[in-house]
Amino acid sequence: MKSVSEAIQNRRSIRQYVQEPIPQADLEEILRLTSLAPSAWNVQPWRFIVVTHPDKKLELQAAANNQKQVGNAPAVIVVVSDMEDVLANPREFAHPEMSEEEKDRLVGTIQNTFGSQSVEQRGQWAVAQTYISLGFLLLAAQEKGYDTSAMLGFDAGKVKALFQLPDHVRIAALVALGKGTEPGRPHHRHSLDRIATFV
Ligand SMILES: Cc1cc2nc3c(=O)[nH]c(=O)nc-3n(C[C@H](O)[C@H](O)[C@H](O)COP(=O)(O)O)c2cc1C
Repeated sequence: MKSVSEAIQNRRSIRQYVQEPIPQADLEEILRLTSLAPSAWNVQPWRFIVVTHPDKKLELQAAANNQKQVGNAPAVIVVVSDMEDVLANPREFAHPEMSEEEKDRLVGTIQNTFGSQSVEQRGQWAVAQTYISLGFLLLAAQEKGYDTSAMLGFDAGKVKALFQLPDHVRIAALVALGKGTEPGRPHHRHSLDRIATFV
């Protein structure tokens, strides 16, 4: 078992994979860990489509600027953000330890906050939450011995059409997943001086 630090240090984008299926139990465990990501009000707008069928992967590759890692990876996870699904089920994410009164207050706050926003605005808010789950997904996969490559290079309209997703959902990312056959590039990152201020 890797520590979180090891998973962070070892993760890099990998675009070439061993051609062997990923056990369903591993896929489910990676997504279970991913689902533990935090989000504002615990809304959890993330949804995941796990694509393993070879034909579907090739169709997805065509919708993803023909990026080879899509067809090459044994699994590709489409990370979807669906704020309208969240709003249609507002009591679902209220913590079971909350009283009924607290739950009512939470639902009221959610309805007040998002009811006045356009589908576009609240969709944009939700996708920021969904990216938290993307970070968890990349690290959970790494810890379980899998490599990944996150992708934003795709045509969202084509991806939605492929999986018959409604127009309002956002595709946050595609994630190729498998055991890598290449080392990937060493990390190249800003120094702390460049990105952090201590006051
Ligand atoms: C949200 C996101 C989208 C990305 N989109 C692509 C992509 O479409 N194609 C690609 O080859 N790499 C993509 N990358 C990989 C980045 O280029 C890569 O993470 C970055 O250069 C740092 O390298 P590393 O992941 O190996 O540390 C993406 C990464 C992230 C996090």
